[in-house]
Amino acid sequence: MLNFKNEDLCVEQVKLSDIAKKYGTSTYVYSRNQFISNFENYKKALGCRGIVCFACKANSNRAILKVLADIGAGADTTSGGEIYRCLKVNFDPSKIVYAGVGKTSEEIEYALKNKILMFNVESLEELDAIDKIASRIKVKAKIAFRINPYVDPDTHSYIVTGKKGTKFGIPYEDAVKAYLVAKKKKNIVILGIHSHIGSQILDIEPFKIAAQKIKKIVDDLEKNGIRLEYINCGGGLGIEYTKDQKAPSPEDLMSELFSVFDDKDKKFIFEPGRSIIANAGHLLVKVIYRKFTDEKNFLITDAGMNDLMRPTLYKAYHEIIPIKKINARKVKTDVVGPICESGDFIGKDRMLPVLAQGECVLVTCTGAYGAAMSSEYNSRPLLAEVLVNGNKTSLIRKRAKWEDLLLNEE
Ligand code: LLP
Repeated sequence: MLNFKNEDLCVEQVKLSDIAKKYGTSTYVYSRNQFISNFENYKKALGCRGIVCFACKANSNRAILKVLADIGAGADTTSGGEIYRCLKVNFDPSKIVYAGVGKTSEEIEYALKNKILMFNVESLEELDAIDKIASRIKVKAKIAFRINPYVDPDTHSYIVTGKKGTKFGIPYEDAVKAYLVAKKKKNIVILGIHSHIGSQILDIEPFKIAAQKIKKIVDDLEKNGIRLEYINCGGGLGIEYTKDQKAPSPEDLMSELFSVFDDKDKKFIFEPGRSIIANAGHLLVKVIYRKFTDEKNFLITDAGMNDLMRPTLYKAYHEIIPIKKINARKVKTDVVGPICESGDFIGKDRMLPVLAQGECVLVTCTGAYGAAMSSEYNSRPLLAEVLVNGNKTSLIRKRAKWEDLLLNEE
């Protein structure tokens, strides 16, 4: 949905230069039709075999969540706040799953009272807490255990989650024991099994190895009289941030996984975040100043690491494109922000035309973990977010003001 119309870069049918004029910069811009189509691909591949739960940590703007809820998405949540957001835009609670190693009593009670589909339980102490709260408020808690399958996919170490030594899930060798403990709990209903091995994974093999290991547990549980209804395969499918990356499709992933779990009456849950929203969102930024040094050139923009943390935190690469086609000579350039740290960069050593002050560039594929991970560091108010649908735009988050920085401070 990102395309050039003559000299102008557009999201769907809207020129980014018009968005910059109307809403200012820097601004996150999303293509509604792109993420709908990404979601529909998952839904089509899954058919009636289960639920696609959008991992709303990737982007929890309520307008985006609402579009997804309206087209039948479930939600993968990781905090009371995310469940709250999802309920506010009418996600069906029976399609909400809740993972996370540190669920508080308050969050557990809120999730139980709102009848979510299930908790993905990550420790026996958490299981105890859920059982006790369920007993106190007289409800049954439906659960899956999140199992750490000890698989190490090729991705940034900070976003590997299914490897031995990470804090996530029940250790692989303790899985069956955990289910036997859960079976004895009066207020717990065992519903499924969950694993999530990491994020931005471009190879299907680690997903398949994890699935085979999970299948072994499912079989062992059946021998112990525990039959599971749901297999939750997590999220993690990568996207193409660079031209030489090749991402598998949801269909590729599912056909591999379905061949591991041959049992036709199991239901599946997938929890994609990035592969739904990353390539639907882009950060539109303006060049404030240029700096030409012996070493290299700098474009200093109005967005910093507080607005987009991925480059500095994960050394992530996002393509940077001027929003007007120009024929100026290209030079090696660092695109940086206004924050007082050398780690404040959006892209390094990029071959970019020498732009004038006031011109804009688009930092692409930042729809996932972009706005969601932004902060007010350096007392910089949070950015505006705009949703494009065909030739229409809507402001889905107002640009915050300096006064907003003080809202909760005494
Ligand atoms: N399910 C669980 C339990 C998760 O922890 C995550 C992401 C997902 C699903 C969705 O994964 P996805 O399909 O988006 O890969 N901030 C990092 C990514 C962190 C991912 C955390 N967990 C980044 O910017 O790359």
